[in-house]
Amino acid sequence: MPLILGIESTCDETSAAIVADGWGVRSNVVSSQVELHAKYRGVVPEIASRAHLQNILPVLREALRDADCGLDQVDAVAVAHRPGLIGSLLIGVTAAKAIAWALHKPLIGVDHVHAHLYSVVLETNSQPPMPAVGLVCSGGHTALYAMRSMEEVSLIGSTLDDAVGEAYDKVASILGLGYPGGPIIDRLAQQGDPKVLRFPRTYLQRDSLDFSFSGLKTAVLYHVRGVPGKVSSAPKEPPTGQELADLAAGFQAACVDVLIEKLRRAASRIQAKSIIVGGGVSANTGLRNALPRLNLPVFAPPLRYCTDNAAMTAGLAFRYLQAGQFSPLDLDAIPYSRFTEPADSR
Ligand code: KG4
Ligand code: ZN
Repeated sequence: MPLILGIESTCDETSAAIVADGWGVRSNVVSSQVELHAKYRGVVPEIASRAHLQNILPVLREALRDADCGLDQVDAVAVAHRPGLIGSLLIGVTAAKAIAWALHKPLIGVDHVHAHLYSVVLETNSQPPMPAVGLVCSGGHTALYAMRSMEEVSLIGSTLDDAVGEAYDKVASILGLGYPGGPIIDRLAQQGDPKVLRFPRTYLQRDSLDFSFSGLKTAVLYHVRGVPGKVSSAPKEPPTGQELADLAAGFQAACVDVLIEKLRRAASRIQAKSIIVGGGVSANTGLRNALPRLNLPVFAPPLRYCTDNAAMTAGLAFRYLQAGQFSPLDLDAIPYSRFTEPADSR
């Protein structure tokens, strides 16, 4: 029963996990930096890197202690080495390399976005019927994938501008709410009526699998502050009370309708037998409630594995271990996903 130590530091969560056999989560410690970034209403890269540097060893120690596992019992060291903020990635990658080198154990670099898709396997060892459509929706990514298996994944659509989680965070900032905005707007939306305000749904061309959320964000901005250059009856101060809840519900309905329509198109395009969702926004109540509209088996991780965590990194790495695919000790930290690698960098 191979035990893999996973390390995650792609953005603003420092995490370490011990996972057995690719799905048995022995421990998963996540140290969130949310409070450090909240006053800036977004992640500040240098603050994130420095916090990873402070947190990485305590988080590693706690993950080993929780799993009652010594470093010598670990069979491989996995790290999310792409995509992410480069300064953040460097901390996790360097830690993983040092441990692998000192222990003479294999190093396995995995793609963080791919790991979000894999998170549905954790704890359940579920095997979604293939082909499947994968949706990764988070603060940094909104993309659709055709999956022939958990390992064979290709990109079929992605956002042309903001990620959906980014739109949530920016709308929360416009409304003077806290950071991250997703969970706050989600909670408010549950008290609101989505029919009071109808915001635009950007579906792009009829067969497009791409997304665009910046227009929706601007529509909220204009609703709240008024359209520049026009006399507007829009409120000058951000709404409060029921008005705020209705706005949140209207915004959330627009996001969810677009995500569901794109999933429907993608499923029909590849004749999918199931749907897999992952990433921070897959925790969203509106999205979860709407997924049954697709009439396909849906696999979504438990809420603790929706946002960034190292268990998904260690889990996916097990598949590489099985295939004997290891990374060299000069493994690089790479800002973009392997699915969106610019052609001139290959
Ligand atoms: O996957 P994640 O932890 O980090 C990235 O890889 O980006 O996702 C964080 C994002 C944030 O934008 C946050 O606002 C959003 O996920 N999020 C949500 C919810 N929970 C987290 N968005 C909508 N509804 C939620 N319940
Ligand atoms: Zn993520």
